[in-house]
Amino acid sequence: MSTFRSVFIAVVLATALIVTALLVNRERPGLDTERPEADMVAATGRCATCHREETPAIVVEYEKSRHASVGTSCLDCHGLQDGQESLEHRGFTISAAVTALNCQQCHSSQYREFLRSRHAAPAFAAVEGAEPFSDEQVAFSERYHPGAVDRPPNMLARLEGVSAIASGCASCHKIGQPNADGSIGTCTSCHSRHLASIELARLPTTCGQCHMGPDHSQIEIYEESTHGVLFNAQRDEMNLGADPRRLTVADMPVPTCATCHMSGLGGVGVTHDTSERLSYWLFAAVSERRPTYVQAQDNMKAVCGNCHTANHTDAFYEEAEAVVESTNERVLEAKDIMDGLYDADLLTPAPFDEPIEFTYFDYWHYWGRTAKHGAFMGGADFVQWHGNYQLLAQLVELRALAEELRTRHASPTE
Ligand code: HEC
Ligand code: HEC
Ligand code: HEC
Ligand code: HEC
Ligand code: HEC
Ligand code: HEC
Ligand code: HEC
Ligand code: HEC
Repeated sequence: MSTFRSVFIAVVLATALIVTALLVNRERPGLDTERPEADMVAATGRCATCHREETPAIVVEYEKSRHASVGTSCLDCHGLQDGQESLEHRGFTISAAVTALNCQQCHSSQYREFLRSRHAAPAFAAVEGAEPFSDEQVAFSERYHPGAVDRPPNMLARLEGVSAIASGCASCHKIGQPNADGSIGTCTSCHSRHLASIELARLPTTCGQCHMGPDHSQIEIYEESTHGVLFNAQRDEMNLGADPRRLTVADMPVPTCATCHMSGLGGVGVTHDTSERLSYWLFAAVSERRPTYVQAQDNMKAVCGNCHTANHTDAFYEEAEAVVESTNERVLEAKDIMDGLYDADLLTPAPFDEPIEFTYFDYWHYWGRTAKHGAFMGGADFVQWHGNYQLLAQLVELRALAEELRTRHASPTE
């Protein structure tokens, strides 16, 4: 009976949509009918009717979306774009893959901002190097992020092997994978495919799918910060779906990842370029200032300025920048030890074939990064026990390992 009911409802819904579309269409001047609106709406009815049976969750999610309420149809997204492979499907010609190219038909400014960000080409090149990209794509990205795309494939990934890359590195880094149709990346990493939601994108857990673990513990740091604790306490009262062009602190009095890195708030423009507000390359072994240091710091501090005084924010930055400096010093000390071993031929030039190379990698990649990220995002435990304590302890360890190598080299018969 419930099957009968849902088919019945679907048929009624589809018929209603067709009739409305026909009525709407009749009112329009001739030119508009060149875009077959009536066919599109009828098609959505047919897609939805059948897919309610075949893959019901997709239709349920779609119906909850803003797209459904403004009349963006299945075919609006699934329709074939120039350069895409076609798929003949139940009497329709659809695209074999829906990519950022399909979204950018209607959201071109978001796509352009995204393309400038490190979420685009740099993210995928961090694993696969420049090879999968066209020359134009490499040249475009290199203008914004020199060296981030024009680079060799990642050595550690090669050593771990193809299957580890596919289900591991690439699962996160494919946010910037080039698509066969010439576009780059997936918008759905943050919005999902059929809910296509702002609310979802503003949740810390959405970013935390990739921004987690000891090498980039952003979600863990956020959860322990005052912001994270308050967000979890007040989440139900927040208007997480607020229109980005009119977002105020009344909608969200506590920041999530998106607030600080993307949202428009109090005069700061909303952006899909997550690099705009960053003044250091914190992920690097030794963190230098970005060329955009001054502008980027002004941008981020203006976001804090919606909720804090300038004194509060400046004092916070001063402390965080001091952590960057002291971490840089420690990492350089560790690097000196390693350079000394390579120079004395006590290590082979190949990476990741001797235990001490892993100790050094963890040194900056885990503990160094964690200390810096913790300092900038309010995670005291990460600055201390997962950061500076480890930096101290592991330097002792590195020195001992280096000493051992020298001793063994001096008396090779042992
Ligand atoms: C009469 C039924 C029917 C209609 C109408 C229909 N589909 Fe499908 N579609 C299916 C079935 C069945 C599958 C395969 C499901 C599975 O593998 O479990 C499918 C699969 C798909 C896939 C995955 C294709 C792939 O190769 O992986 C997409 C995308 C899709 N449909 C979109 C649409 C869109 C968009 C429309 C309307 C333009 C539509 N469908 C109309 C029945 C239908
Ligand atoms: C906002 C754009 C958008 C709209 C609207 C949309 N889709 Fe999709 N759909 C996608 C994207 C993106 C994918 C993932 C495609 C890929 O990976 O190539 C997808 C995938 C699918 C799949 C395959 C899913 C799977 O997990 O196997 C089906 C089936 C599908 N859509 C049906 C529909 C139907 C039916 C409608 C209308 C009720 C619809 N879609 C509306 C964007 C959309
Ligand atoms: C045919 C045009 C069209 C296509 C294609 C399209 N959208 Fe949209 N999208 C819209 C319109 C119209 C709105 C509503 C805008 C508004 O509310 O002002 C919207 C709204 C959105 C929103 C805001 C949702 C919210 O919660 O308020 C997101 C996010 C979004 N689209 C993402 C996507 C993604 C991702 C794709 C591709 C997978 C896509 N759109 C494809 C037309 C489109
Ligand atoms: C859980 C998701 C995830 C996995 C798995 C993952 N990464 Fe990352 N990676 C990230 C995130 C998020 C960042 C950004 C960190 C930051 O900026 O603090 C990043 C940063 C990087 C960077 C530094 C940025 C750059 O462009 O140089 C490199 C290199 C990198 N990853 C390579 C890899 C390789 C190689 C693998 C597999 C061996 C891998 N990643 C696995 C999420 C992931
Ligand atoms: C890193 C996560 C992420 C990715 C990737 C992403 N978005 Fe968004 N998007 C967001 C967030 C967060 C917001 C809401 C910003 C705010 O708080 O106001 C948003 C807002 C939007 C909106 C609503 C804008 C408005 O003014 O109504 C649209 C449309 C949209 N995104 C489309 C896209 C498209 C198209 C892509 C792919 C080119 C994309 N997004 C990729 C996180 C993302
Ligand atoms: C699908 C995985 C994924 C998701 C989801 C994701 N990111 Fe990322 N993000 C990455 C990767 C990978 C990088 C590293 C790119 C590089 O530098 O190579 C990155 C880098 C960044 C950077 C650093 C950019 C720079 O210039 O160094 C920021 C900031 C960021 N992401 C914020 C966010 C926010 C905020 C969200 C949620 C709204 C989010 N990300 C969601 C994978 C993801
Ligand atoms: C209160 C604001 C705020 C919140 C909330 C916040 N961040 Fe940040 N984030 C910052 C600041 C400030 C920096 C350092 C900026 C700089 O370099 O000047 C930063 C740095 C980063 C970086 C480092 C980029 C690099 O250079 O390696 C990433 C990635 C990032 N944040 C992601 C996230 C994610 C994911 C979340 C949520 C889990 C989050 N942030 C929550 C303010 C915030
Ligand atoms: C949308 C509002 C909002 C934004 C944006 C925001 N914060 Fe906060 N922050 C809060 C609230 C609310 C509290 C809790 C304040 C209280 O207890 O009265 C808080 C608490 C803090 C605390 C812990 C309390 C303390 O004084 O030690 C620090 C540190 C902090 N914020 C720093 C920042 C920095 C730095 C930025 C920008 C990178 C920022 N915040 C952006 C709302 C915000």
